Amino acid sequence: MSLSLSYLTIDISSVIKVPCAGIIQIHEVTSSSSSITTTTTTSSKLSSPLHRFKRFYIRKPKALKVVSSEYSCFEVKGVNYRPPGTQHNLLNDVNFSLHEKSLGLIFGRSGSGKTTLLQLLAGLSKPTSGSIYIQRYGEDGNPNQSPEDLPPERVGIVFQFPERYFLADTVLEEVTFGWPRQRGGIQLKEQLALGLQRAINSVGLNGISLDEDPHALSGGYKRRLALAIQLVQTPDLLILDEPLAGLDWKARADVVKLLKNLKKELTLLVVSHDLKELSSLVDQSWRMEMGGFLKKEPM
Ligand SMILES: Nc1ncnc2c1ncn2[C@@H]1O[C@H](COP(=O)(O)OP(=O)(O)OP(=O)(O)O)[C@@H](O)[C@H]1O
Ligand SMILES: [Mg+2]
Repeated sequence: MSLSLSYLTIDISSVIKVPCAGIIQIHEVTSSSSSITTTTTTSSKLSSPLHRFKRFYIRKPKALKVVSSEYSCFEVKGVNYRPPGTQHNLLNDVNFSLHEKSLGLIFGRSGSGKTTLLQLLAGLSKPTSGSIYIQRYGEDGNPNQSPEDLPPERVGIVFQFPERYFLADTVLEEVTFGWPRQRGGIQLKEQLALGLQRAINSVGLNGISLDEDPHALSGGYKRRLALAIQLVQTPDLLILDEPLAGLDWKARADVVKLLKNLKKELTLLVVSHDLKELSSLVDQSWRMEMGGFLKKEPM
């Protein structure tokens, strides 16, 4: 593919043309004729990935929200975790609640269990006991619905040093890795193309060619790409494990700015040792002590 192309083609079953910026047009090419039908796109929502090889899900677009003072929280109640075949809990009675569209920070000593907790939230392993759910609250601050499960497809996770898991030769292939290869409807293709455009714009990757080798990007741009991969499916909760680790000062500042913008759209839970740099973004924070005991500790 030429770097000067303004459109790139994703071959799923028909043709989706994705501009690096601007309006997406999706062309369904029929086998019986050479005519091309352009479909006007509308906003859509895709669900989230959890894992490099398990990152494509799809769910229905959400209904438009009516402005009200109702809100929801991601809640963790009495969670214990003991890996199968072991004698000791890695996490003990973990409890916390994270308001939607806020940023929660978990910090603590190495080996205390922070990554283990993130893996439970992302659905990569299951708590031995306790529950993880979404609770909606009414204007009076009381629960107004039964708690909802937190399905894995509503959670995105960016692992520590995500660039180590890049597999593809181009940015486009890296972002679309895991997308379904079977024939899908035009609606699915619209959602994919829109999600891709939105994700690329929201992490500031629109100045980078989709033909670029992901391994050749700077540290900060690799981190943006890892975020974009998760954001294509617009998760409700985005989990980041040490998002600033291994970056130079400029890239760290860029990622902090990016997280500030993302917080307007979704809920973020960050594990980090970089408390000073993140403190201006943090709404709630907890220290994890050895043995996986979580305690509220404001910044
Ligand atoms: N499957 C497992 N079986 C037994 N022990 C495990 C398992 N997974 C992790 N551990 C142990 O659980 C503890 C917590 O690990 P975890 O990676 O969650 O810590 P962390 O707080 O993220 O540390 P760091 O800050 O270094 O990333 C460590 O002692 C680790 O060796
Ligand atoms: Mg860890």
